[in-house]
Amino acid sequence: MLKLKSESPEETIELGRKLGSILNSGDIVCLQGDLGAGKTYLTKGIMKGLGVDREIVSPTYNLIKEYQGRLPAYHIDLYRVSDEQQLHDVGFEDYIYSEGVSVIEWPDKSGSLMPDNYLNIIIKGQQQERTIKLIPQANKYIPLLEELKKNVNLSSG
Ligand SMILES: Nc1ncnc2c1ncn2[C@@H]1O[C@H](COP(=O)(O)OP(=O)(O)OP(=O)(O)O)[C@@H](O)[C@H]1O
Ligand SMILES: [Mg+2]
Repeated sequence: MLKLKSESPEETIELGRKLGSILNSGDIVCLQGDLGAGKTYLTKGIMKGLGVDREIVSPTYNLIKEYQGRLPAYHIDLYRVSDEQQLHDVGFEDYIYSEGVSVIEWPDKSGSLMPDNYLNIIIKGQQQERTIKLIPQANKYIPLLEELKKNVNLSSG
């Protein structure tokens, strides 16, 4: 587990960028935290780090937005998902079990379709300060977090 403190939106984006630059094909990142916690800001950075040069805005109507960086990248926001059937119908499993990288906001809403193996990130805090916990839910994310730890300049939460 890696626990970090972000003092501004820019620091959160920069953390995301560093994470995105080392993510691998097939990786799944789940982002948990209340409304306005900073999940989309972190995603902006992750996509930047993956080499996506388009602006990231939350996928309001289509649940899943597809980008192309050094890998295919999927921004999935389940806030408005109504049920698992809808999620299945838009190809959720096809996206997350592919060669691309998936970043999922509100992953709990995926119910039984929730993957077993993923990098879990929990964001908490108020005003400008955020505690960002990165918890590997599969062994492959342990060396990734070791690498990230070497590169970040944020204080531990
Ligand atoms: N340290 C910080 N890191 C990230 N965002 C911050 C920070 N401090 C303040 N903010 C503000 O918090 C908000 C985060 O918004 P963001 O859209 O990323 O939240 P979210 O978790 O995606 O919310 P939602 O559940 O509605 O999608 C922004 O308005 C941003 O300016
Ligand atoms: Mg969001």
